[in-house]
Amino acid sequence: MTEDWQNGGFGIYIHWPFCLSKCPYCDFNSHVRNTIDHSVWKTALLYELQHAATLTPGRTVQSIYFGGGTPSLMEPDTINAIINEITKLWHIGNNVEITLEANPTSVEATKFSNFKAAGVNRVSMGVQALNDIDLKRLGRLHTAKEAMQAFDIAHKNFERISFDLIYARQDQTLDSWVSELKFALTQAADHLSLYQLTIENGTRFGELYDLGNLKGLPDDNLAADMYATTQEICADAGLNAYEISNYAKEGAESRHNMIYWRYGDYIGIGPGAHGRITLDGKKQATITPSLPEAWLQRVQSNGHSLQLNEIISKPEQAEEYLMMSLRLSEGTSLSRFQSLYSAPMNQIKINALVEQKLLTCTNDTLIATKAGRMILNAILKELLT
Ligand SMILES: C[S@@+](CC[C@H](N)C(=O)[O-])C[C@H]1O[C@@H](n2cnc3c(N)ncnc32)[C@H](O)[C@@H]1O
Ligand code: SF4
Repeated sequence: MTEDWQNGGFGIYIHWPFCLSKCPYCDFNSHVRNTIDHSVWKTALLYELQHAATLTPGRTVQSIYFGGGTPSLMEPDTINAIINEITKLWHIGNNVEITLEANPTSVEATKFSNFKAAGVNRVSMGVQALNDIDLKRLGRLHTAKEAMQAFDIAHKNFERISFDLIYARQDQTLDSWVSELKFALTQAADHLSLYQLTIENGTRFGELYDLGNLKGLPDDNLAADMYATTQEICADAGLNAYEISNYAKEGAESRHNMIYWRYGDYIGIGPGAHGRITLDGKKQATITPSLPEAWLQRVQSNGHSLQLNEIISKPEQAEEYLMMSLRLSEGTSLSRFQSLYSAPMNQIKINALVEQKLLTCTNDTLIATKAGRMILNAILKELLT
């Protein structure tokens, strides 16, 4: 049997697909519904877990992650039931990380102590911006003041706190981003996710952009400056850029996301959640229906919704591994790539990229440089074709 350490670990992702409103930039699988029967959802999520456990007996869970959508809208009782069920179904690793994504509205922040009581030990808050004009433009339902209050409540309840900000927003200057980021760093989170605003097709921002009506977006040069400055400021504050958009104090890296980036195994529970699990030594992709009602209906009629989509061939695994691991500051193990690919990576291409200062290559490890991180897709294309 393939050991967890060989493939980056094992975690469980639970997707709560509901939000109070749809943010205009967001293309995640999130839906707005007038009513949600929490008890029905709890039962269905537990069924799905029970089925997933039959596929992965004996594995040790290192991380549980409630993502969304807006899982801070879940009832603490549902979170508690899910964590309890996982404890019954699998071995639980020492130091298991249990993260909940939370939107920092005052209503959700008052639930933090209940989430803690349910077993959550890390919170990741979607703050996005720290001024009300920009929060409004981003369609957020919280104010900057509410975000600050949520920080306070989070600090009272959790040792491990992360929050997300989006930069390269409309009309944002480098100076205003620098002061916002510096202020954010005073809030003593041990982890930050700092995302450059991406205009996604199929979103309200995507429509406005196509019509030429999304004004004031930074050009590529300004966005690149913002990214470079972000890395410097975070490094000065002791938060390492351990992944392209993620910064953490030593030891505070998101263990859950590290499972993805180290290309480990994870189960995806809930509408639209993807998974990668090794069964009988073969890595399989799992998928589930994206629409909440379709997912629920499938679980209710079949007892589960997990579809074993395809066996991922070894060369495909090598490619996926490279795509994930090159995002990390710890980089890619060339021997792991080679054992999956059944051939070494093209040394001539590596040398050329090293020459251009886009990669470093020492012993067994390939790492994207700061300049390389900015054009990672182009590097991957070069290495994989
Ligand atoms: C799917 S959201 C879930 C968290 C929670 N619902 C929230 O909004 O706070 C995860 C994060 O992805 C980021 N994100 C989503 N869409 C984005 C986009 N188009 N550009 C940049 N960041 C984005 C946001 O920072 C968000 O906090
Ligand atoms: S950004 Fe978060 S709150 Fe907004 S629609 Fe997406 S998942 Fe929902």
